Amino acid sequence: MAAAAILLFLCLVAVSSELAARARGQQQADAAPSGFVSIDCGIPEGAAYADQSTRGLRYVSDAGFTDAGLNAGVNPPYNIKGLADRYLTARYFPGAGGARSCYTLRAVAPGGRYLIRAAFYYGNYDGLDRPPAFDLHVGVNLWVTVNVTAAGAVYIFEAVAVAPADFLQVCLVNRGLGTPFISGLDLRPLQDDMYPEATVNQSLTLLNFRRPTATYSFNRYHFWRPASTYRVFRYPFDPYDRLWQSFGDIDAWTNITTSTAVDVSNISSFHMPSKILWSAATPVNGNRIDFTWSSDSSINNGDASYLLLLYFAEVQRLPSNALRRFDILVDNATWNSSQGYSPKYLSAELVKRTVKGSSQHTVSLVATPDATLPPILNAFEIYTVLPMTELATNDGDAKAMMKIRTEYGLKKNWMGDPCAPKEFAWDGLNCSYSSSGPAWITALHLASSGLSGQIDASFRDLKSLQYLDLSNNNLSGPVPDFLAQMPSLKFLDLSSNKLSGPVPAVLLQKHQNGSLVLRTGNNANLCDNDASTCEPENKIGNRILVIAIVVPIAVATLLFLVAFFILCRMKNKQVNRTANNSRLPSPRERSNIFENRHFTYKELKLMTANFKEEIGRGGFGAVFLGYLENGSPVAVKMCSKTSQGDREFSAEAQHLTRVHHRNLVSLIGYCKDKKHLALVYEYMHGGNLEDRLRGEASAATPLTWHQRLKIALDSAHGLEYLHKACQPPLIHRDVKTTNILLSAELEAKISDFGLTKVFDNDFRTHITTQPAGTLGYLDPEYYNTSWLSEKSDVYSFGVVLLELITGQPPAVHITGTESIHIALWVRQKLSMGNIESIVDPRMGGEYDVNSVWKVAELALQCKERPSRERPTMTDVVVELKECMELDVLHAKGYYSSAPSSTINLSAASVDLQSDAQESYAGQETVLELEQLGNRSSTQLGPAPR
Ligand SMILES: *[C@@H]1O[C@H](CO)[C@@H](O)[C@H](O)[C@H]1NC(C)=O
Ligand SMILES: *[C@@H]1O[C@H](CO)[C@@H](O)[C@H](O)[C@H]1NC(C)=O
Ligand SMILES: *[C@@H]1O[C@H](CO)[C@@H](O)[C@H](O)[C@H]1NC(C)=O
Ligand SMILES: *[C@@H]1O[C@H](CO)[C@@H](O)[C@H](O)[C@H]1NC(C)=O
Ligand SMILES: *[C@@H]1O[C@H](CO)[C@@H](O)[C@H](O)[C@H]1NC(C)=O
Repeated sequence: MAAAAILLFLCLVAVSSELAARARGQQQADAAPSGFVSIDCGIPEGAAYADQSTRGLRYVSDAGFTDAGLNAGVNPPYNIKGLADRYLTARYFPGAGGARSCYTLRAVAPGGRYLIRAAFYYGNYDGLDRPPAFDLHVGVNLWVTVNVTAAGAVYIFEAVAVAPADFLQVCLVNRGLGTPFISGLDLRPLQDDMYPEATVNQSLTLLNFRRPTATYSFNRYHFWRPASTYRVFRYPFDPYDRLWQSFGDIDAWTNITTSTAVDVSNISSFHMPSKILWSAATPVNGNRIDFTWSSDSSINNGDASYLLLLYFAEVQRLPSNALRRFDILVDNATWNSSQGYSPKYLSAELVKRTVKGSSQHTVSLVATPDATLPPILNAFEIYTVLPMTELATNDGDAKAMMKIRTEYGLKKNWMGDPCAPKEFAWDGLNCSYSSSGPAWITALHLASSGLSGQIDASFRDLKSLQYLDLSNNNLSGPVPDFLAQMPSLKFLDLSSNKLSGPVPAVLLQKHQNGSLVLRTGNNANLCDNDASTCEPENKIGNRILVIAIVVPIAVATLLFLVAFFILCRMKNKQVNRTANNSRLPSPRERSNIFENRHFTYKELKLMTANFKEEIGRGGFGAVFLGYLENGSPVAVKMCSKTSQGDREFSAEAQHLTRVHHRNLVSLIGYCKDKKHLALVYEYMHGGNLEDRLRGEASAATPLTWHQRLKIALDSAHGLEYLHKACQPPLIHRDVKTTNILLSAELEAKISDFGLTKVFDNDFRTHITTQPAGTLGYLDPEYYNTSWLSEKSDVYSFGVVLLELITGQPPAVHITGTESIHIALWVRQKLSMGNIESIVDPRMGGEYDVNSVWKVAELALQCKERPSRERPTMTDVVVELKECMELDVLHAKGYYSSAPSSTINLSAASVDLQSDAQESYAGQETVLELEQLGNRSSTQLGPAPR
């Protein structure tokens, strides 16, 4: 009975919602055909209006379709009255070359065919009078290069594409040729039988070829005359809102026109009414119609393939003795059968053919010898066939990532498809690509990304995810069970969040049986072993009990610590000031074993194929390339068994379990198997900075100034974290370009913590027995006094900045035999006010002079003596951010790059003597210093070839 009632209720709900949906559909049909999306880019969020030229199609703001870019209006004299509203505003996307900005059109039918139209009207919206060129992508594939050459011209591009998923994306890609912008974007659903040549594997894009008599460069024409009256037909004449433009008035042609409807029922891709076909072109004198086109310069397509569609309908009632018959030729080859072709009276027909080859093509309609009337042509379209070779991320992963992005408000470069094309893959993702199927997401690095709220259920949909790092965020709430059900997950880092409650038993079990590396440390309210010991927070009685026990213990401990502290201080005063008594940090995490994976020596041997590929040499041994079970590459750093090596190994292991930051290379695990010691790190695909600056890659793909600035900022962040976020602070002591590693996306991370020291104010441990570091980077003050502080790292970082600007090594060769220190060299050049002469020529002159000056100044400040005059790493980060902003403004062309006279040149004119002792003049000095700097570089990336 109850069941029947529920069923009845459900039926009623279903019926009423169906009715409501129909009513909504009806309303929409009245306003516009369902599925039409009409976007006016650049109008305020929430704005909408009925467009006059389309008899009321509703245009809406683009704010709901993209979260990038800024709005602007066009400027006089281009804000012409009578221009369609959508051309009066634009959205533009400031950013660096290579940046991608996307619109996402949702609620499309997967596998459905759509007409997409993008419109561009520059109108000097930025006041620079410099129209840009940029790329337009449909989904993950290049659609067209938008080359705006006239500020007052409208550029329209149309494509017919099949939606691969339930959303479609249109992206603008900055090619370094000006800021991308867009004025309008339309989406029109087509019938399934229209343009069957468009498939998931290829799109059709309307040929972009400008004919002198036509207004626009797209190739879809009607032959109504005069052109000035009948410019463009679109909705409602064309129910699918294709734009048909007038071919223009040509003296050799005239038009014949009917006022009776043409039957278009025989052309599936045409639906009534079709006024477009009521008028046809025909020669004034003569027996032929010819037109040509050549390759579409906006599409880089060597094996061009075109789809030509010709529409015919006889529009004159012919007397019985008259005959209209003609041959259709393309490039002098006949298309039709030998008898020629005769259009049917008031009945439309479509003749279509694929034309291949990238050279010029000619279409000729030539009357047959027996014909008494010349040929006619009612309309035509030419499409370029665009192969969709780039495969997108699989549907489930892409949707999960978009949800994660909105859920946590992540911006980064997270636009468009997560994995494809490869060069636009989102930061923090690893994808696995295959030639035959879509890409899958295998790793997600979201450490220190400012995530807050609960762990979202969308993570569950990442079916191939092996590695998930959510550490160092503000995530709260429980650790969800579904994490244990993720089929591929092998590594899960939840440490340093605000998660609470028990860690699900299934997860712990996976961890214990070795199928999952699990880190949960530093979550104050998380219990990791047994759910039953977790105290529900609201049990006040328990809390009082806890307080009753904890408080006395805490007080006792405190007293003990104070006593211990005083004793230590007294003792410390007696011991030799130079004793190396750096105290290793007490690990905040519950246990290292729990946080990091333990490898046996046998496992390492297997992972590295018996230590086959050496990719570098660390402070205490060689570094090998290895692979985890899941195929992720890792760097395995072996430790040679010397007392020095042992100590460095321990130091590095200890520090690395303590520090987690996206700009510090992260430890995956370690090996302590009898006499074998090793550390296993994430592998950095981009190699080290020195190789990128001066190795083979530096000439082939030189780093741009923007990339150099980003690398500087990343590394500065890493060092700032060591100095400021670690308690007690850590001093790296070996900052240099070989210890800055790069990811494939050029994200920089600091590596090699073998010399890192704990800097403890209370215990004055900053006197070290033996200054260590690397020649050329070593702080002379530290070297002379053994007095260690964070400022020594700042000094070394200054050298790194100079290398980024100049591309030179720390010892600059000025003659065949003579080298001077890079700082001295830069100061000499800058004292002559000559910045161009020090800038790395590999940047090709593409940089903002002000921004380079500022970095050079900063670099020299980092090397000031005494060290208290140097900025802190926090100051450095702030300065570098400003330099970055200058560079971005410059890239946008917001100001001219002439160095402003207000720039403070004092740093450049400092006493040249102060760096004199850094010059590598005396051979003996070099030897002496070299013994110190003998720790050769650690390199976790690929070895230079
Ligand atoms: C844009 O067009 C101009 C003029 O035709 C040409 O010189 C330029 O190379 C084109 N730019 C691109 C990126 O195609
Ligand atoms: C698209 O290409 C794939 C792989 O080449 C093929 O299996 C599939 O049948 C093609 N689909 C269409 C609609 O052509
Ligand atoms: C061409 O079209 C115009 C506009 O419809 C019409 O007035 C004119 O008569 C047509 N010319 C011919 C020869 O039919
Ligand atoms: C439509 O095509 C069919 C078959 O090709 C033909 O028999 C019919 O006459 C055509 N209809 C019109 C109105 O021309
Ligand atoms: C077509 O034929 C004409 C004359 O017969 C000739 O001038 C022209 O070059 C030919 N075009 C092609 C593409 O072969």
